[in-house]
Amino acid sequence: MSTNKEVFLDYISLYKPYWKKVSLGVFFGFIRALSIIPIPFLIRKIIDIHIPAKDFKGITNTIILAVLFSLLNFATAICARYLILYSSKKVIFKLRSLACEKLQQLSLTFFDSENTSRLHTKVVMDIERVDVMSNALIAVTLVNSLIVIIALISLLFVSIKLLVIVLVIFAVFFAINRFFLKKFKEKVKIFQERAREVSIVVTEFLNSIRTIKSFATEDYEKKKIDEKFHSHTESAVDAFTTQEVYVSSLTLIFGIANLAIFGYGGYIAIKTNQIGMTIGNIILFSTFLSYFFNSINQLLTNMDQVYLGFIGLKSTYELLDYAEPIEDYKGKKKVDIITGKVEFEDVTFSYRQDVPALENISVVVKPGMHIALVGESGAGKSTFVNLILGFYKPVAGKIIIDGMDLIDLDLRSLRLNIGVVSQDVFLFGGTILDNIRYGKMDATMDEIQNAAQLASINDFILKLPDGYNTVVGERGVKLSAGERQRITIARVFVRKPAILIMDEVTSALDSESQKKVQDAVDSFYRTKTTFIIAHRLSTVVNADRILVFKKGKIIEQGNYKELLNLGGYFSKLCEQQFLKGNE
Ligand SMILES: Nc1ncnc2c1ncn2[C@@H]1O[C@H](COP(=O)(O)OP(=O)(O)OP(=O)(O)O)[C@@H](O)[C@H]1O
Ligand SMILES: [Mg+2]
Repeated sequence: MSTNKEVFLDYISLYKPYWKKVSLGVFFGFIRALSIIPIPFLIRKIIDIHIPAKDFKGITNTIILAVLFSLLNFATAICARYLILYSSKKVIFKLRSLACEKLQQLSLTFFDSENTSRLHTKVVMDIERVDVMSNALIAVTLVNSLIVIIALISLLFVSIKLLVIVLVIFAVFFAINRFFLKKFKEKVKIFQERAREVSIVVTEFLNSIRTIKSFATEDYEKKKIDEKFHSHTESAVDAFTTQEVYVSSLTLIFGIANLAIFGYGGYIAIKTNQIGMTIGNIILFSTFLSYFFNSINQLLTNMDQVYLGFIGLKSTYELLDYAEPIEDYKGKKKVDIITGKVEFEDVTFSYRQDVPALENISVVVKPGMHIALVGESGAGKSTFVNLILGFYKPVAGKIIIDGMDLIDLDLRSLRLNIGVVSQDVFLFGGTILDNIRYGKMDATMDEIQNAAQLASINDFILKLPDGYNTVVGERGVKLSAGERQRITIARVFVRKPAILIMDEVTSALDSESQKKVQDAVDSFYRTKTTFIIAHRLSTVVNADRILVFKKGKIIEQGNYKELLNLGGYFSKLCEQQFLKGNE
């Protein structure tokens, strides 16, 4: 989907479930527009008929009638607003939820190339603008367009000559309109882009506040942010000044049109000796003219909101329409409980074209085997486990789990069988309990404590004043790196996955906790397939097999003893670490 029309039609179709409410809202809007029409006529009656006839009763009755119409206007305005607001809020909710669903479907390849702050703007800011637009569009635009049309028709019945004057002036206005609108659109586009940039730098700034402080680069960052603020401000002044010139020119034209009514109307009144043109008629005309211009004025003030909203809508649909790369679950084979057999058949993978992160990898891992992955930084260890999780698709070769090609599997059902403690620790806002339970939503307190015990964090948690109900900061900043790490380990342990993956987890732990976690894996997970990525080679002594990675290839494999006896790359790495350890 790409054209404006398609985007707009699709957006409108979201209103389908609420068509009754919207229609009723439009109906009330219509009544609202109609209910102000009789009032100027009633005023004309007072001026032209009741006052000359000194008819007090007539004045009273007419005023009562006018008040009733005003009350009708008031009531229908509120009903219309409520019904339309209700529907448009529901549609916005739907859009937001579609956007989040889409983000969940997109594969990690998408997130590798997209800026998170930019996505944040799409889900929050752009959709917010669509919301403002929806209300502006239905509540204001629709009602006011009706008023403009009804006002024009009514003026036609009062005096064609006066109407012609109004229309001529109006034509001048439209000429100005076309000229300014184009300029305004261009400027709004620039303004919106600048607003986006501001949002991105501010998010980045907030995320990196610790780094900024520790590097004492506040001045540099302030300058960077101020530059963005500055150009944002400039573009705002530019866009909204253009809008002001535009709106003010309308006020000026309205003023001139009103004066022309009084001038020309007065002239006709004198010349024709009040036949056809009464004071009441002049005032009626002037009142209608103000309805007419007021409505147009409101329509124009809404113009920027509608325009910004439409840009927001397009940007939202850009996200919703991403066809690739989607993690496709539909029609794929759901797996239940797996034994944990993992095979790589000549697998090659690259994040970017040309540079392979893994090359011709072939491994067979039997259920329950403990595998250690070692090798220098960037050798492809994390990539290897990312592929088991189906985060990325291999460029060539096959990954086979329990005899089934990963390509045919429903990845979510597969991932329910896998537990990962990744290199980057992430805790959700909430309590420690919430964070551990995330591994298994229906876990009992016993299971949770057990997992925490194995992860060597239970005693620590129990010593906290709030115990398991301790709230961790937005990103767990109130805990030490090792404590956070052990909570994420407990989170995976509670799941008791058929395949356990631990990426460099022991690096943040002191040697005592490290040993405890290691023991837990060795004993408790003895029967489960385990992949452990480790830099500290002393931790891989007990592994059934060690895969030695170098530049995307497995160059040696075997158990600790075999590899040392081989006297190759692994034994050299061990030697280096041993020497370092002795320094
Ligand atoms: N998301 C990504 N997009 C593009 N390239 C990536 C991505 N992740 C990793 N790479 C590249 O792929 C190669 C292998 O990275 P990988 O993360 O698997 O290394 P590693 O062995 O886990 O290293 P470390 O021990 O430092 O964690 C590296 O050259 C890295 O730059
Ligand atoms: Mg890694």
